[in-house]
Amino acid sequence: MRRTELAEHPDRRRWNTRYLQRPPTFEPHPLVDAALAAGCPTGPVLELACGRSGSALALAATGRRVVAVDIADLALTQLTTEARRRGLAELIEPVAADVPAHDPGTRCHALVLATSYWDATAFRSACAAVLPGGLIGWEALADSPETDRPERPWHVRHGELSTRLPGGFEVLAEELIVSGRRRSTRLLARAGSADTSTQRADTREGTGG
Ligand SMILES: C[S@@+](CC[C@H](N)C(=O)[O-])C[C@H]1O[C@@H](n2cnc3c(N)ncnc32)[C@H](O)[C@@H]1O
Repeated sequence: MRRTELAEHPDRRRWNTRYLQRPPTFEPHPLVDAALAAGCPTGPVLELACGRSGSALALAATGRRVVAVDIADLALTQLTTEARRRGLAELIEPVAADVPAHDPGTRCHALVLATSYWDATAFRSACAAVLPGGLIGWEALADSPETDRPERPWHVRHGELSTRLPGGFEVLAEELIVSGRRRSTRLLARAGSADTSTQRADTREGTGG
């Protein structure tokens, strides 16, 4: 996407306005602790739609490199300023991009994280960007089965994230989080190890004759 298209993107304008109005808290998301407790291999982290991410700061504080992608440049500026204040700026690489159009590369991140965000294309490329044995942590707003509101594209059904994982991923946890009227669905899953992928490829080759 060209720089002018990014500058004009409605999501960028909308979110920059919000970030101008609300001060940041830099609270890490609970998926950070969950991912570290589950055992996360060595390697960099990719956070998609990161906002002013306390998660990126917390992960950088453990010594990990974090690529932090968001369309709102104001969020990235606020994140970078705070990272500098904490002496973590060298570990956090801010990337201004439209996440669904962004190519994160393949199988090179120990953890791919996205919270309070949903896009099916981004979820697919996020899964492809996880190292063998690495983790994907994703939380998105969940549709409520009781409401008859038309489907909202930034919502998913609870349980849907795991069904969208490619083969070889193991679901470690999938929870519905309800807080007042807010419902979200949270997934932590691990990509198959290189050994498992190789074994699977060998089996396919074997059965294919
Ligand atoms: C609800 S906020 C969540 C921020 C952060 N992940 C968190 O949990 O606090 C949604 C984020 O998605 C970003 N966003 C929305 N549309 C985007 C797009 N098309 N490309 C990249 N980021 C986008 C917004 O700028 C905003 O930072």
